[in-house]
Amino acid sequence: AAATTTSAAQTEAQANVDRPGEPGAAKGAAPAGPVNLFEFEELAKRRLSRMAYDYIAQGAADEVTLRWNRASFDNLRLKPRALVDVSQLDTRMKLFGQAHEFPVLLAPTAYHKLVYREGERATARGAGAARATLVVSSFATVAIEDVAKAATSRLWFQLYVQPDRSFTRDLVQRAEAAGCQALVITVDTPIAGTRNREERDRFTLPPGMNVENLKDLLKQKATSAHRGDKDIYSAILDPRLTWEGIDWIRSFAKIPVLLKGIIAPEDAKLAVEHGAAGVIVSNHGARNLDTGPATIDALPRVIEAIEGRIPVLMDGGVRRGTDVVKALALGAKAVLIGRPYLWGLAVGGATGIERVLKILVTEFRAAMALCGVRSISEIDRRVLWEPGK
Ligand code: FNR
Repeated sequence: AAATTTSAAQTEAQANVDRPGEPGAAKGAAPAGPVNLFEFEELAKRRLSRMAYDYIAQGAADEVTLRWNRASFDNLRLKPRALVDVSQLDTRMKLFGQAHEFPVLLAPTAYHKLVYREGERATARGAGAARATLVVSSFATVAIEDVAKAATSRLWFQLYVQPDRSFTRDLVQRAEAAGCQALVITVDTPIAGTRNREERDRFTLPPGMNVENLKDLLKQKATSAHRGDKDIYSAILDPRLTWEGIDWIRSFAKIPVLLKGIIAPEDAKLAVEHGAAGVIVSNHGARNLDTGPATIDALPRVIEAIEGRIPVLMDGGVRRGTDVVKALALGAKAVLIGRPYLWGLAVGGATGIERVLKILVTEFRAAMALCGVRSISEIDRRVLWEPGK
């Protein structure tokens, strides 16, 4: 019994050192703030309304795929290597001739004003401070022209093709005129998935927030992509969109066109046939079809189907630097993160986003070094414990 008491006391003393400001803490030590991406979520949850938190955190239906997106990363094992000179690490890479300092981009996410007063303007400043590429959503609460004014790093534009074709063409041309350097067409959302958390919260955009890019279109229509009670369709998602629509957009787009939301190898092949410049393996953060595969599990099959013809990116569940190494080992050129930077935005605005990226890139560099790889081109299946899997 005596031994147990001692160890409990020791644990408590240790806990106090780890939590400065509490009795027993070292004098003058400042709180460290969140040290990983998961801790940003905990902090953000305390700051956001339940409706905003649920909107971001939720997956579709029972959230089975949401859990798989993480579990499948955790189940992949890396192979540590010894005695390699890793004193110089290079995380730079190129996509479509564009230089990136590291293979992590910010995924398109809707409605940033739900999270932070300045919305996407602050996001653009945070991305700029971290020198990261930001993919701006069609459903931004700041118009693309105004996001571009606040941006100091590269922007890409995410397109939800609208049933109104001439409006869609104008929107693409507005994004090009604003300086966006690639077009990411989201192809996994002909309708929104079954999202019980937002149904329970009766999700709506609070007054004063608008989908600014679509303002002219929305005058007589719904104000968000979220369907009415008894209908699976929304006014601003196009359930009729097919490959013909992709051909049509390619016929006038001046910037590389990527397709986001490819999971099936059959679709990956079609993407190449229809001239996509790249694809993003994504299940929309597990927000659409529940019980579809984790993206890291779908990635190898897409890579196989594409046969190196165009670059493949991926997103879904990337939270640690080791996840980035695993995605690159399985053939992705880069990854995107969604929720983690929204938690950063909620916690600290632009600075929060900069911090999230800084932590993830630092972890990525550490994981590279411990796997004995010094540059992006050295990351392949050999960094995996079971390379054949
Ligand atoms: C999204 N996602 C998304 N995708 C898209 O193409 N257009 C959009 O407007 C949105 N909006 C959106 C809002 C929120 C709150 C989330 C969480 C996600 C999907 C997003 O681009 C990306 O695929 C996932 O977020 C990646 O998964 P993680 O990193 O969130 O696990």
